[in-house]
Amino acid sequence: MLSARATIHPAFVVASVNRRLFGSFVEHMGRCVYTGLHEPDHPSADDDGFRGDVLDLVRELGVTTVRYPGGNFVSGYRWEDGVGPVQDRPTRLDPAWRSVETNAFGLNEFIRWARKAGVEPMMAVNLGTRGLQEAVDLLEYANHPGGSTLSDLRVAHGAPEPHDIRIWCLGNEMDGPWQLGHKTATEYGRLAAETARAMRQLDPDLELVACGSSGRDMPTFGAWEATVLEHTYDLVTHVSAHAYYQLRDGDHASFLASAVDMDRFIDQVVATADHLGARLGSDRRIDVSFDEWNVWYLDELQAAEADRPRDWQVAPRISEDDYTVLDAVVVGSLLVTLLRHADRVTAASQAQLVNTIAPIRTEPGGPAWRQATFHPFALTARNAVGTVLDLRLAAPTTVTGRYGEVPVVDAAATHDEDGNRLVLFVVNRHPSEPVSFTTDLSGWDGASLVEAVVLADDDLTAANTRDRPDRVVPRRHPSAAVADGELVAALPPASWSMVVLAVGPGAADHGAAG
Ligand code: AHR
Repeated sequence: MLSARATIHPAFVVASVNRRLFGSFVEHMGRCVYTGLHEPDHPSADDDGFRGDVLDLVRELGVTTVRYPGGNFVSGYRWEDGVGPVQDRPTRLDPAWRSVETNAFGLNEFIRWARKAGVEPMMAVNLGTRGLQEAVDLLEYANHPGGSTLSDLRVAHGAPEPHDIRIWCLGNEMDGPWQLGHKTATEYGRLAAETARAMRQLDPDLELVACGSSGRDMPTFGAWEATVLEHTYDLVTHVSAHAYYQLRDGDHASFLASAVDMDRFIDQVVATADHLGARLGSDRRIDVSFDEWNVWYLDELQAAEADRPRDWQVAPRISEDDYTVLDAVVVGSLLVTLLRHADRVTAASQAQLVNTIAPIRTEPGGPAWRQATFHPFALTARNAVGTVLDLRLAAPTTVTGRYGEVPVVDAAATHDEDGNRLVLFVVNRHPSEPVSFTTDLSGWDGASLVEAVVLADDDLTAANTRDRPDRVVPRRHPSAAVADGELVAALPPASWSMVVLAVGPGAADHGAAG
């Protein structure tokens, strides 16, 4: 059997776990908002028309931050359309997703929903078809306490307290030719800088995210970040990165190694940002906001779009991907990568939250259920607490068609000193071979097993559906055990595992075989 060995020590810390790593994304795309979050006629709907079953699942998922309202949608959006009496709001065509937007749900509904869900809002401004003035107006409307026309308008719209949105995205994917108002790096860099400067005049403490690349395969990747940051370096706190992965041509090995690409993406964005810092003689550090990531069957969407009726509909079904066990393992592995980069990736949003490429699915008037990808996200968000440790791994490699030679195993570890917990998240990326995984616990006196679960299946295409919502769930790890200062576990092929250990004072007494 293949074998891999990890070493972790409490003294070797990467960074604190920033809770914003477990963010998500709500876009006016498909049925994410309408019949996802918002369905006034649904039996579980509350007074605001928010689906209660979805709110419960969002809380269970452990989402911390939610980016809104797009996405490609934001680049043609007039935020004013979504505030004020609902009956007075205009109906518009959304060119990004060829949909009819009723504007029944807008900024104030989103903030009310976010407060109920217990998540922090992250707002994007339109720098595609609009610009500085509209961004500043939106900021004043949303965050100013009162005494100005726009802030008083918010109060008149039933939101007396300022929304206090702390983190803002300066547009969306402005490097992409598909984006409404797509720009060159210089055009965007100038606009983002001027918008950031103006927003900071209202509130110097805002966190601002400049658009980075829509993917590492964009022809402008690297040069785009360098130019944009040259203009914005002193004005923004983050640069964004977006990445989507899918199984292509049945190549499981490459798909399972998708996180290798995310790894390289993060390292290269960080290197580019730091290079700019050096060139500008700045001591500031720009972090990465990985504010769109997921598995997305984009090829299928492109094929489906060609067949979609040319009529315009409200909330059409778009990219309601049914996620498999294999997809869930990849999602778990992308979370491992984000955790390992917690020193520089300080915000991240899985795209998206409900129905559209989402961990939560709903039917109008019907049930809501957890997709397979829900589980690694929820377990990581709940258990990755405290600090990320500098886990060192010795693992065999395998050759993939897309990423060359890659380590078969990837892992991250977090240490919650207050809760006396050490947690490992481990992926076996080999499509057909199990791996014997050992962790040296010599720095952890008396470590004992609390819980160990694994996501794996003989049928990698298994998925949760409306009729079988619990077909794919994490199961008790059959082999994980602690003995003689080591954790040992046999990792099934194509699997994601989580192991929780009790450590620190009295650890040996706290443990209960999981
Ligand atoms: O999340 C779906 C879409 O993917 C977003 O609208 C866009 O920003 C990205 O291309």
